[in-house]
Amino acid sequence: MLIVKLNAIDSTNSYLRKLSAKEIIQDYTTVIAKEQTQGRGQMGTVWSSEASKNLTFSVFKEMSQFHLEHPFYISIVTSLALLKTLQFFSISRLSVKWPNDILSEDKKICGILIENVIKQNNINASIIGIGLNVNQTEFKNLPKASSLKIISGKVFDLDEIVHAILKNLEHYFLLLEKGQCHILKNEYEKYLFRKNKPSTFKDVEGSIFSGFIKGISQSGNLQVLLEDDITKEFDLKTIELLY
Ligand code: BTN
Repeated sequence: MLIVKLNAIDSTNSYLRKLSAKEIIQDYTTVIAKEQTQGRGQMGTVWSSEASKNLTFSVFKEMSQFHLEHPFYISIVTSLALLKTLQFFSISRLSVKWPNDILSEDKKICGILIENVIKQNNINASIIGIGLNVNQTEFKNLPKASSLKIISGKVFDLDEIVHAILKNLEHYFLLLEKGQCHILKNEYEKYLFRKNKPSTFKDVEGSIFSGFIKGISQSGNLQVLLEDDITKEFDLKTIELLY
């Protein structure tokens, strides 16, 4: 497994994507940056992280052998690898806020940005970007953000955490390769933030409504039990959980 360490780069996801367009990259090649000047989050947002305090890295995962019907399984595998790692480091009250924000004590400690490389209508590879807040203790204007240090009071070794994440990623991708989708989906659902609790959502039109999160569908849509006992499925860009 090749690990590339950079002092500064615009974005480790962008770096790995450009590299993969130029040359053949080994499975699980990982690029870690001490600092990102243009860190990217989901849906065009910015990911900011104090230099050298946190983990900002991307993993190149070969996907052509999977013939995945539902790309959301890449999110499930990544979330589970992170949850298992964080559990190993005794991080308390872990959950996954759909689709793939990792929370501890109801605060976001980790974000995931998955970008797929498509070839002939198939996912050929995935660039899995992970931003994990580790030793940073101040998050200006981000009241819902936290870090491992804030949660546990301990300072963590960044390398030790990356190695554990990579090991767990391999483990969960192996399960996916073996077709153990139901096990992965069940485990992911066990960690779902606000599962079976009354929650408030916003849809694309900006309307606010309430319901209970019940689980996810095979394709990764969020299943919400609404009034009148109707369960509706929402796809990624159509619903936001307000909390
Ligand atoms: C999110 O929660 O919005 C996703 C954040 C993902 C951030 C990581 S940091 C490493 C990789 N490079 C990026 O530019 N983004 C991801």
